[in-house]
Amino acid sequence: MTARIAPSVLAADLGRLREQIEQVTEGGADFIHVDVMDGHFVPNLSFGAPVIRALRRLTDLPLDVHLMVQYPENYIAEFAEAGARCFTFHPEATVHVQRQLAAVREHGMLAGLALNPAAPLAMIEETLDDLDLVLIMSVNPGYGGQSYLPQASDKIRRTRTLLDSARSRAMLEVDGGITSGTITEAWSAGADTFVAGTAVFGTQDPAAAVRDLRRRCAVAV
Ligand code: DX5
Ligand code: ZN
Repeated sequence: MTARIAPSVLAADLGRLREQIEQVTEGGADFIHVDVMDGHFVPNLSFGAPVIRALRRLTDLPLDVHLMVQYPENYIAEFAEAGARCFTFHPEATVHVQRQLAAVREHGMLAGLALNPAAPLAMIEETLDDLDLVLIMSVNPGYGGQSYLPQASDKIRRTRTLLDSARSRAMLEVDGGITSGTITEAWSAGADTFVAGTAVFGTQDPAAAVRDLRRRCAVAV
């Protein structure tokens, strides 16, 4: 298995978005990660459907949309139409989680749940059959450029065990503080998909940064 790398455009230079997307594509990125924030679920604002639509026109890479918003159900139809491939939300943000996961799949997207550092793994246990992706947050969401919380590694390990024992083929993604110094630990713990913002777009050579992240996983099997 090779690691999948999902550069987060939250850290990109939006004035040069086309060029930045081309750079990570050249580096072999597997997804483009899009962080949607509403100023309620997290204390920050970011993108919505117009940016997803614009990215859709810029790239053929699948758009991995991470909703840090209250009531994510309000965006399922709109984001599907805008071109999202993965639709990942936080279970605390809505009441009928299973219903929303099913609705995400009905709209042709991959359904994901994201767990904050304090959210227990039990929040995904009853919906494993409805999940295409589990996202373990390794920072408290809201901002790029934070440090990887070391306790995330044990949670990744327990999530891997849970998914394997349920014979789930869901992707296991990790988000927050992923750098060339932390990715190996998260990979060894069982993650297969890695979001990286600052570590990719905060460098002079985003293509090389994507290659470097993947290589760190390849040598640590
Ligand atoms: C954090 C977001 C992340 C963020 C990661 O709230 O969900 O996707 O862009 O940024 P880095 O890689 O800089 O920690
Ligand atoms: Zn994210």
